[in-house]
Amino acid sequence: MQDVVFITGATSGFGRAAARRFAEAGWALVLAGRRQERLEALAQALSSQVEVHTLALDVRDDQAVSQAIEALPEPFKRVRALINNAGLALAPEPAQQVKLADWHTMIDTNITGLVNVTHALLPTLIATGEGASIVNVGSIAGQWPYPGSHVYGASKAFVQQFSYNLRCDLQGSGVRVTDLAPGLAETEFTLVRTGGDQAASDALYRGTTALSAEDIAEQMFYLATLPAHININRLEVMPTRQAWSAFAVDRD
Ligand SMILES: NC(=O)c1ccc[n+]([C@@H]2O[C@H](COP(=O)([O-])OP(=O)(O)OC[C@H]3O[C@@H](n4cnc5c(N)ncnc54)[C@H](OP(=O)(O)O)[C@@H]3O)[C@@H](O)[C@H]2O)c1
Repeated sequence: MQDVVFITGATSGFGRAAARRFAEAGWALVLAGRRQERLEALAQALSSQVEVHTLALDVRDDQAVSQAIEALPEPFKRVRALINNAGLALAPEPAQQVKLADWHTMIDTNITGLVNVTHALLPTLIATGEGASIVNVGSIAGQWPYPGSHVYGASKAFVQQFSYNLRCDLQGSGVRVTDLAPGLAETEFTLVRTGGDQAASDALYRGTTALSAEDIAEQMFYLATLPAHININRLEVMPTRQAWSAFAVDRD
């Protein structure tokens, strides 16, 4: 039976690179995201290699998510890997300057959206059983604080703990769960975070070597294709040129 991967946030960055990586290995693809034209372009590019099903949806809409998953056509029903990748950071300014709506959007996408998709796919993943995987995309921000991370980092801390807690409940089902926590990676992430400021995005990545979308897609593929008896609980990946910094001390 053909392996099926369900990827959220497939229209850009890690998700789009993951679609290409799994397609290379012959997996059938279910690709979700809000931007339909991008989904169609990706499906067109990959459908000569593998079977592709696109879902133009917003992960925040639990009804749309559960209906789309219930209505998956036959070749895509038996999902073996869920790549829970859709997410975003907004408002890089300090917490006290952020619009409440931006906090809500991050919580609704990174937490509610991720649990919406997980809840709808759990029966399928459990039916797949041994060798099935959930790769939840967290972030180094879920573990390490930094200025301007406020709700974004907190939402990724949720992803880590939810992943660990899921493991407890899924024990015996054969379904693996990983919190994949990338560091600095060059995608459209910073463009989204800065409200479309291309210069700010370019400045962040200039003069260093960030991770690429393909680097993270490779980790996703690795996690989903490990021998069935191995579960990597958390995989934190930074560029070699990124590390932690000193504690900040307020002085007179
Ligand atoms: N890049 C980094 O440095 C970095 C580091 C650590 C973790 N991450 C995490 O990695 C994940 C992927 O980010 P990326 O770097 O690949 O950024 P990206 O290029 O901006 O891609 C984000 C993806 O999420 C989708 N998305 C956002 N909101 C959505 C919604 N409400 N419903 C459905 N899809 C939605 C977007 O699709 P549509 O806009 O078409 O819906 C897009 O495909 C995110 O969870 C992010 O927090 C990124």
